[in-house]
Amino acid sequence: MTADEATPDGTATKMCGGRAEPLSKLGGFRADLIREDLRDFAGYSSARTSDTGAPATIWLNANEAATPSAVDPEGAQRRYPDPQPAPLVEALADAYGVTPDRVVVGRGSDECIDLLVRALCAPGSGDAVLQTSPTFGMYAVSARLHGVPLVDVPQRDLGDLWEVDTEAVRDAAVEQGARVVFLASPGNPTGAVVPLDRIAELARALEDRAVVVVDEAYQEFAAPPSAATLLEAHPNLVVLRTLSKAHGLAGVRVGVALSHPDLAAVLRRVQAPYPIPVPVAELAVSALAGSVRRSVEARVAETRTGRELLAEILGADPRLTTVYASEANFLLVRGPGAESLLTDLRAHGIVVRDMRHLLTDALRVTVGSPEEIDAVRAALTTKATAPTPATDAQPEPDAS
Ligand SMILES: Cc1ncc(COP(=O)(O)O)c(C=O)c1O
Repeated sequence: MTADEATPDGTATKMCGGRAEPLSKLGGFRADLIREDLRDFAGYSSARTSDTGAPATIWLNANEAATPSAVDPEGAQRRYPDPQPAPLVEALADAYGVTPDRVVVGRGSDECIDLLVRALCAPGSGDAVLQTSPTFGMYAVSARLHGVPLVDVPQRDLGDLWEVDTEAVRDAAVEQGARVVFLASPGNPTGAVVPLDRIAELARALEDRAVVVVDEAYQEFAAPPSAATLLEAHPNLVVLRTLSKAHGLAGVRVGVALSHPDLAAVLRRVQAPYPIPVPVAELAVSALAGSVRRSVEARVAETRTGRELLAEILGADPRLTTVYASEANFLLVRGPGAESLLTDLRAHGIVVRDMRHLLTDALRVTVGSPEEIDAVRAALTTKATAPTPATDAQPEPDAS
């Protein structure tokens, strides 16, 4: 076996790093948006993906155990999983209204963010990642881990709402060589949505130079429709969704990139060989069944009601000056008494997210259950202290 043929589990059947489909076959998605040195990368050919022969009954190609584990007497976990389990891909495609060839399943949308930066930005070449602060911390972390520059286009604070300046994003992307533009909508921590016509305009303006990624981790809680409706018209658009929020399955780690099929094929090729464990895939398929989806709708409705109530409670606290409008399952609040509020809530066993590393006097509060919202109300009414100035404390970057 040559070095090129060697594979991590010793199951090499095809050259690793060999030639992928010729670029001319990449159709509507511009192949030159892909990192140049990965355009013809075939990825790792796993034992699960490389067998194409006649129906087989005896599997001796992946160095798996010959008999089941004592903790898995039926042997359900004995084999390596399918990298992109077809039932899960189909269930996600159905849930998000796209064709299965547009779906790439990842270990949370965090992995999809990482795959996009990996596939689109060449380290050391000046290819940049663009974000719009204040925003989700993983875009910057991924840029850093891949050794590519980060361009930041701060959002506008309109007083009770945040706005992404999509024209400034377009200009900065062009001037500073962004290859991937991340827009979180609804945004974390802002809770604000980016209007679909602005997203479409931006994708069109950048169609020959960057991929626009709309991270819709909180879309279920929002009133406006998903940007997935724009995918057909914009080959350079990607939408991220997750089972971690409205579906109540953050521990399962399933997220998805919805993209042009040609980009989806590239993302699969740069992904690690067996991303989705078998029990996770099975649970996720069950979570997308019709009856369970109805329970998600009920959770979303309850969260929206809770959001209003929590906004009233926090808005009545004299230590805060602003409760921003939110289309997500959290509220961003600001005020000179943020420190005091944080301390009081913590004293009652309630942990909220300190956002002062992004905004000097801000906290982010998740909409909890009705009982948890009551607990917040009780904690704030038992002790309403005088405002204390915000400190310069620098918490960890936000990764949730
Ligand atoms: C905007 C945004 N995108 C993505 C994620 C990551 O989600 P996942 O659990 O699917 O990795 C989060 C998590 O908080 C988020 O806020």
